Amino acid sequence: MQSRLSRRAALTGGMAVAAGFLTTSLAEAPAASAAPGRAVPRAADLLGFTPVPLSTADEIRVPVGYTATAFLPWGTPITGSFPQFVPGGNTAAEQEQQVGMHHDGMHYFPLERGPGGNERGLLVLNHEYTDEAYLQTGTATMPPAADWTLEMVRRSQAAHGVSVVEIHRGEGGRWAVARSRLNRRITATTPMSFAGPAAGHALLRTTADPDGIRPLGTVNNCSHGVTPWGTYLTCEENFNGYFRVEPGAYSPEQAALSSRYGVGGDRNLWATNDERFVVTPDEANEPNRFGWVVEIDPFDPGSTPVKRTALGRVKHEGAFVHVTKGGRVVVYTGDDQVNEYMYKFVSSGSWQSLRARGRSPLDEGTLYVARFDDDGSGHWLPLVHGQGPLTEANGFTDQGDVLVRTRLAASALGATRMDRPEWATVDPTTGMVYLTLTNNTSSAKVENAANPRKPNPWGHIIRWQEAGGDHAATTFEWDLFLLAGQGRSSGDGSTLADEDAFGSPDGLWADPDGRVWIQTDGTQPTGANDQMLAANPHRTDAADVPEIRRFLTGVVNCEVTGVVTTPDQRTMFVNIQHPGDGGGSTWPRLDGISTPRSATVIVTKDDGGVIGT
Ligand code: FEO
Ligand code: CA
Ligand code: CA
Repeated sequence: MQSRLSRRAALTGGMAVAAGFLTTSLAEAPAASAAPGRAVPRAADLLGFTPVPLSTADEIRVPVGYTATAFLPWGTPITGSFPQFVPGGNTAAEQEQQVGMHHDGMHYFPLERGPGGNERGLLVLNHEYTDEAYLQTGTATMPPAADWTLEMVRRSQAAHGVSVVEIHRGEGGRWAVARSRLNRRITATTPMSFAGPAAGHALLRTTADPDGIRPLGTVNNCSHGVTPWGTYLTCEENFNGYFRVEPGAYSPEQAALSSRYGVGGDRNLWATNDERFVVTPDEANEPNRFGWVVEIDPFDPGSTPVKRTALGRVKHEGAFVHVTKGGRVVVYTGDDQVNEYMYKFVSSGSWQSLRARGRSPLDEGTLYVARFDDDGSGHWLPLVHGQGPLTEANGFTDQGDVLVRTRLAASALGATRMDRPEWATVDPTTGMVYLTLTNNTSSAKVENAANPRKPNPWGHIIRWQEAGGDHAATTFEWDLFLLAGQGRSSGDGSTLADEDAFGSPDGLWADPDGRVWIQTDGTQPTGANDQMLAANPHRTDAADVPEIRRFLTGVVNCEVTGVVTTPDQRTMFVNIQHPGDGGGSTWPRLDGISTPRSATVIVTKDDGGVIGT
């Protein structure tokens, strides 16, 4: 572990040791994506705010000089007849016209070029899952399963998926929902299509869709991605828990696939009234139609969302897109489960030339899985049928089969077992890729140099530089960016200064200036609420630890997940998911409603400055 930490200077190209050089180069050569009309701050000055302390309060706290305002809570009317939110009192049809539950990944698409784009845009956000007690009753009391009706199932399905909301900044800088034709809800029942190598595969066919190309809906949408052609990628994470598996439903091969993905549990009681979520010997493929990355065109409300099978089928945490110098699209996507893997997809050619020929860059390319070797080198192993062990002789029938059974194919390749890969991000100023490993306390945890603590209750952040700075490369060099925990003096192996303590890193975003925003979901030091911090990888201390400051503390029993800014970086959107999960919260307390509701927090700097400075 020490060697992986101490080789950082070499890996970063002398970045840490030659801070003066980097400061100069950053100041003189602003990243192309940085907010127009202003100089990129010097590396030493990336973080300018006074950190906030850990908190157990049921309110959002941000640094002095910043303001946080709750916006777009679950139930906000956005389409149709704009039905008002009534805790536990809306029909399924009404929920379908309101913002869903449990906000997660999110992006802001400006609706104008230039300054107007900072005042008018589409906020697109995922709804990861539902708390059925609050959803169905408005209280923490869960109705008995025996009373579950189809209307309740439909209400739950309508609270899942994605919201597309046009928002405007108006009087006094306040943001409001526009009554726009672009506003849209995508739910667990929205018609979609399959594309890519697995579309139409026998493993995707059902009685209702004998061609295996017309799936319905998306579920458990965790994190996200954004393509250079202006679409939104939403990721199906824990899809497995929405099904009930009838005894004898599977052949031995199907049983092996189902158990690797953990299909079953009927967590939301959908199987009580919706046969699509009951797995039987005659209908065993519906679970295979989830676990994909779904592409949505937020600018065309009539468009059909597309499940892009070339990106593999796992519990996708996110789909973080980077464009290579040659114009190829690279999508980093983690599989968030104990001992599962990290993947990347590389398009076969430049995205512009593929699209010019009417092809999707997300349908044609190679999916790789990561092997992190103990010596700090790394390899991307191709998931290509017929190559290596992925052959007919080993039971892999074709490329579609490899993709539907991505996890099993990745195991056959000898990928590195990880401590639950969550978000990844590319620092636009260095090209370095960062990845959160949230935690792993399983007795089955596999210890390796890239996941060095067993147990790992606090998580860590790993990072790598692709060979030659080319994100399409098949080798890389990695190191440990930080080991989370209660702080260096605690003896838990954390590399953090005590005042920067945090656990369970999950959301992660390198902004255009190279600030790395870190969001948490899970146990925090001293039992405090979840939080968001900012790291400056360009400034490290004598112990080679990056500068970190705590920027925001969440409310009781929430997670902090999803972060983006307007292009000028002067308005930040942050999602607060499942406040009061297990009780203790009435946030956001809007319109006299005390039912806790997931919501987006708008953060601004009182002097109108860039967030983080
Ligand atoms: Fe949905 Fe892995 O967090
Ligand atoms: Ca997450
Ligand atoms: Ca998580």
